[in-house]
Amino acid sequence: MRYNIPKNSFFINNRAKLIKKLPKNSLAIINSNDEMPRNGDQNFPFRQNSDLFYLTGLDQEKCIILMCPDHPEEIKREIVFTVKANQSMVIWNGHRYTKEEVTDISGVNNVQWLDAFDMLLRDLVLHSEHVFLNQIEYFKYQTEVPYKDLRFANEIKLKFPQHNFKRLAPLMADLRAVKEPEELEMMQKAVDITNKAFRKVLKTTRPGVMEYQVEAAMSYEFLMNGASGHAYPPIVASGKNACILHYLDNDKECKDGDLLLMDFGAEYGNYAADISRTIPVNGKFTPRQKDCYNAVLRVMKEAIKLYVPGNTINKVDAQVKKMMEKEMIGLGLFTQEDVNKQNPDNPKYFQYFMHGMNHYLGLDVHDVGGKDTPFVAGMVLTCEPGLYIADENIGIRIENDIVVGDTPFDLSRNIPREVDEIENLMLKR
Ligand code: GLY
Ligand code: MN
Ligand code: MN
Repeated sequence: MRYNIPKNSFFINNRAKLIKKLPKNSLAIINSNDEMPRNGDQNFPFRQNSDLFYLTGLDQEKCIILMCPDHPEEIKREIVFTVKANQSMVIWNGHRYTKEEVTDISGVNNVQWLDAFDMLLRDLVLHSEHVFLNQIEYFKYQTEVPYKDLRFANEIKLKFPQHNFKRLAPLMADLRAVKEPEELEMMQKAVDITNKAFRKVLKTTRPGVMEYQVEAAMSYEFLMNGASGHAYPPIVASGKNACILHYLDNDKECKDGDLLLMDFGAEYGNYAADISRTIPVNGKFTPRQKDCYNAVLRVMKEAIKLYVPGNTINKVDAQVKKMMEKEMIGLGLFTQEDVNKQNPDNPKYFQYFMHGMNHYLGLDVHDVGGKDTPFVAGMVLTCEPGLYIADENIGIRIENDIVVGDTPFDLSRNIPREVDEIENLMLKR
């Protein structure tokens, strides 16, 4: 295993927190993610369902957990099903969990092979009034792919049409949004690995290097340090490419005089880092690049102070947009008079800073949580102001990962971000 998994007390506690949120006589069911087909006989690399991982620590396909806390038979209150490996599976794919291993990792004592699933599911459903089913409920996301939890929901509704089915996702979102100490440790590790990768990039970037070679330096450090790889496809965007917000080609040459914007993060034990840094390809910012960079950095430093209990994503975003507007006036991009006359539906700043400046972070890079949900200590969010001046080939984003608290804590505090620090480290190439 590449990563150190938290002790099973963490997963036991997560299940206890979920059980507290369930009404009496409930059953909750969560499936492993599918092994997603690629082409021919290949699958994409397996990535566990974040909710199943959060509740069990199991990082293998074809696992299912049933939680039925009021079942009259204590042994049936919590059951994990997993695949029984046959000889051919072991030869081709390697070891699969034994029942004892499932218990060690998750703390669930009743572990069954999948062939017992249908009968036990029937028993648990018939003992329950409410059946909580899982689904992806990310606001701005839709998919045509009928993934495992969704297929399962359709199947079970056909089998038990008189039952009362409920949404599990909002309950899981409430739980997952506030991180436990074990999770902060995993996230710190993901950020620290990303820091190593950034320092490697500072040493290897110079005019003539290709964007994919910068990406290769990141990937190398990630894998060398126990990450499973990138938490999301990295953006390595030089010059005007940095103004393409979701630039993923990473196939251009980094040119003398250009900036290089990198948005990248390691995934460690299924937890994500999400960091952005912007550096001069040749090791020295021009005066204009420096002014623009420091404007974004000033805003970031002020913005981090807003990551306190009670604030919300939308409130912080609105305040930061005002700060950036002021900086843009200072940089001569438009005047206060232009702002006074602007169409409020299309503010001047939007031309140069057109994305949200924060989101929740955790098992998923855009993690669960609401934009108007008041922050609570222990939530983790990104802080990512940006400035994109396409006419000047300038695209800047600086992104850190912040734990909410009366004194916000910066997981990325050790990743260089000052102009002098970056230039000095690049001098040592
Ligand atoms: N890396 C994606 C984001 O910053 O939201
Ligand atoms: Mn982000
Ligand atoms: Mn990012």
